[in-house]
Amino acid sequence: MSFTQPATAAQPSLAPNCDSQTFLDAMRYVGTGVTVVTTGDADWRKGSTVSAMCSLSAEPASILICVNRDSNTGAAIKARGTFCVNVLNAEQSDIARVFAGMRDTADGDRFSESRWDELATGAPALENAAASFDCHVGRMIDYGTHTIFVGDVVAARTSRAEPLYYYNRDFHTGSPLDA
Ligand SMILES: Cc1cc2nc3c(=O)[nH]c(=O)nc-3n(C[C@H](O)[C@H](O)[C@H](O)COP(=O)(O)O)c2cc1C
Repeated sequence: MSFTQPATAAQPSLAPNCDSQTFLDAMRYVGTGVTVVTTGDADWRKGSTVSAMCSLSAEPASILICVNRDSNTGAAIKARGTFCVNVLNAEQSDIARVFAGMRDTADGDRFSESRWDELATGAPALENAAASFDCHVGRMIDYGTHTIFVGDVVAARTSRAEPLYYYNRDFHTGSPLDA
């Protein structure tokens, strides 16, 4: 199956941008959740750790992710037209490291050390993820080094587990202020 919608190339504005090192230093203090974005099916699958994910709208249910244009997973999503965003729970930081290429599995397959099933599209859904959002690509926009994928959410589930957080180049778990 292939998905042929071309990515729209948005034009950057002409305003002078701040230098990238200053930008990256400040971005270290933007706390995020951590997801593993997957595509494919049980026979052919790709996946990458992605923190750039956010809700877009509830009606229609939609999210967006930002994926580097050099990413194997991003290329596979463009070809396939579907993806599943798996929000990691607080005990799944090792899975984030594997899917970021920070640690190899024994057999070289990023998927082999965790358990996967599927929701609607066939893209791998991580068992016990805090939440999973299974999507059809609604729109793709290339901007700078990244592609923004808008995902129309066709299925979602949650384990109600506490999510994992990332900021200042490290993984964190949360605790409520009023505990
Ligand atoms: C905490 C964390 C968050 C990341 N977030 C993103 C992201 O939002 N978008 C992205 O393109 N890469 C992100 N990465 C980097 C990719 O996970 C990494 O480059 C990965 O090896 C790409 O795999 P692929 O080329 O097989 O798709 C992140 C890495 C880490 C450790």
